Amino acid sequence: MTTDQLPLALQMCPFSPTLEEGLRGLVEVVRWDMLDTDAQAAFLNDRGAKVRAIATGGHIGCPADLMSALPALGLIAINGVGVDKVDLAEAARRGIGVTNTPDVLTVDVVDLAVGLTIDLLRGIAAGDRFVKEGRWTSAERPLAHRVSGRKFGIVGLGRIGRATADRLAVFGPVRYTGPSAKDVAYDFEPDLLALARWADVLVLTCPANAQTYRLIGTDALDALGPQGFLVNVARGAVVDEAALVEAITHDRIAGAALDVFENEPHVPDALRRSEKVVLTPHVASATIECRKAMAEIVLGNLQAFLDDKPLLTPVT
Ligand code: 8YV
Repeated sequence: MTTDQLPLALQMCPFSPTLEEGLRGLVEVVRWDMLDTDAQAAFLNDRGAKVRAIATGGHIGCPADLMSALPALGLIAINGVGVDKVDLAEAARRGIGVTNTPDVLTVDVVDLAVGLTIDLLRGIAAGDRFVKEGRWTSAERPLAHRVSGRKFGIVGLGRIGRATADRLAVFGPVRYTGPSAKDVAYDFEPDLLALARWADVLVLTCPANAQTYRLIGTDALDALGPQGFLVNVARGAVVDEAALVEAITHDRIAGAALDVFENEPHVPDALRRSEKVVLTPHVASATIECRKAMAEIVLGNLQAFLDDKPLLTPVT
C-alpha cells in the first residue's frame, strides 16, 4: 500500500524510534503536536473525517474537542498506563476502543520511585552538583537521612503500588491506603491522614481521577509533617502543587521527589530552586527496554484494530 492508501492516524507526541517506525508501517501518520492551531483547524476541515486512530502518551491523552471532531475515530492507543486524559465514558458511548500499556512499565516506574526515594533522603543528585560545581574543596555536604528502617506509606496499591511496596519493604515497614483493602501482607490504612502521620515517606502510585484529584493537599502534607518526605510517580493532579510549594517553602515537610507535575513541562520556580526537592522530567517509564515493550503493545493494538480483531489491552 502507498502512504495515501493507509488508514489515517494522529500522533499526539514524540515516541521512541521503534514506535514511530512501527506506526508508519501501519498507518499514515499526521503529527498533531507539530501542527499549529490554524493548521490543525485546516486539517480537521480537509481530512478530520478520515482519521481512524490516535496514538498518544498517557500524559497527553485525547482532548475532548478533538475526539468530537473525528467522526470515524475507532481507536485511541495510549503509549502509557494512565488513562486520565481520555474521556472513557464518551469513548465507550461512541464505541471508540481505548488501549493502554499495563504491566510492561511497572518495573521501571518502581525503579524510579525507589531511586527518587533514596536520592531524596541521601542527596545523591545534590552531592553530584556539589562535586561538579567545585564546592567540595571549600565546604562539606550536610548529613543526609538514613533510608533503611524508614516507614513507607503507599497511596494506591494497584500494579505499580504493589510492586513499589514489595521493593520498599526491603528497607522498612510498609502500609498503604486506597479505595479498599487488598489481599496483601501490608497493613491497610483507610485514612490517608493517618497513613501520612505514620509514614516517614509517602509514595504516590495511584491513578489520577475524580477521587484522587489534589488528594495530597495541606492536610495530608501537614500530617506527613516536618520530618516527612513525599515521592510522586503518579500524576501531578494528585498533588495540590500550590500547597506543596507552601509546605516546602515553610519547612512543613522535609522534602519531595517528583517525576510528575500539574502543568508539565512547567514546574514552579520554588520547586526548581529548593535543595529539599528532587525533580525528574516525567521519565518513570523512559527506559529503552520499557519503551520498546510499550511500543509492541501499542502497535499490536493498532494492528488488531485495523484487522477488526479483539484489542490486546483494552481499558475497561
Ligand atoms: C509516559 C505515563 O510518560 O504511563 C503513563 O501513564 O505517563 C508515562 O509512562 C507517557 O505515556 C509516554 O508516552
